[in-house]
Amino acid sequence: AVIPVILSGGSGSRLWPVSRGSFPKQFWPLLSDKTLLQETALRGEQPGLGCPVVVCNAEHRFLIAEQLREVGITNARIVLEPTGRNSAPAIAAAALLIAEENPDAIMWVMAADAAIKDQSALQTALALAVDAARNDYIVTFGMQPRKPETGYGYIERGAELEEVSGAYQVAKFLEKPDSERAAELIRDERYLWNSGMFVARAHTLLSEIEAFEPRVYSSVKNAVTERTSDMDFERLSVEHFTQSPDISIDYAVAERTKRAAVVPGDFGWSDIGSWDALWELTPKDADGNATSGDVFLDGAKNCYVRSDGIVATVTGVEDLIVVVTKDAVMVSHRDRAQDVKKMVARLVAAG
Ligand code: GDD
Ligand code: MG
Repeated sequence: AVIPVILSGGSGSRLWPVSRGSFPKQFWPLLSDKTLLQETALRGEQPGLGCPVVVCNAEHRFLIAEQLREVGITNARIVLEPTGRNSAPAIAAAALLIAEENPDAIMWVMAADAAIKDQSALQTALALAVDAARNDYIVTFGMQPRKPETGYGYIERGAELEEVSGAYQVAKFLEKPDSERAAELIRDERYLWNSGMFVARAHTLLSEIEAFEPRVYSSVKNAVTERTSDMDFERLSVEHFTQSPDISIDYAVAERTKRAAVVPGDFGWSDIGSWDALWELTPKDADGNATSGDVFLDGAKNCYVRSDGIVATVTGVEDLIVVVTKDAVMVSHRDRAQDVKKMVARLVAAG
């Protein structure tokens, strides 16, 4: 069986002020009338796939249950973390729960913060990935790089797998290179972006996590063994889960494993990382402006303007992002959209 696993623990601070700690970006309808979480979960609703597993912060449990119910998903296992320890422990928890029933089950791990346009191309890539996973590989999806992005993992494609044509060995995995390195990598056609989705047997992931990060493995194992059920939710033990190191699956496993494979795919993938990414993905008027809500423009070019419940007007400016919510206004140059995160850190520090 192939089991969709959805990671929904990030806080999305670059999409402030819409995305907040108590209500992060994956719970907002940013691109369609469905939220990113709903779009992600619906990708996993296909014949032949098992009940989805969602790993999230305990604080978001009702929000998640409600959003899944809204799109008709009522069979998900919702696994609660007392506090986020990044993606490696989250994936380890899902893998341990799944392995209790079937260690050979194949997990399709999805981030809750991506947009995918071409579902049928995704299915083709997924089928190849599942084949490779049956051969004990940890499979990534390689996206054609578009710019020297420093927020992604880079995958060097190696030789084609003997067992699965269309899937390749990962010669090297480099998570979040600095900007100089990223500029080199996008000139080298062997390099692809990591999409943040992984496909592998539960057992394969667990043995690699145990080998490379034994403390993640042991604390999460105890947290799963000592879990409690709380209505429909599975609550990981606070005492044990908080002992786990904070590390992403990319640093913990992808950079180190010899079992990594990559399926190159062209399925219209984008990371919904910043307001600039949303500007790129949203349909625009003739002057390149994307708007949402009660917004009036005059002489604006290439702007993203979003207002929730308040009238916003923008006159005579270019390349700006303006986001208005009931209690905050954010204005940024499009080129500085990544730095919204720094501003949020300052706000948090200032209390
Ligand atoms: N449950 C849970 N708990 N989920 C988490 C946690 C956690 O503590 N931390 C992060 N996640 C979830 C996020 O919500 C997201 O869905 C996914 O794990 C990836 O985490 P991000 O924090 O968004 O990672 P990233 O964007 O910096 O990098 C990853 O994605 C890139 C593509 O978007 C990496 O896999 C990169 O290699 C990749 O290129
Ligand atoms: Mg991300």
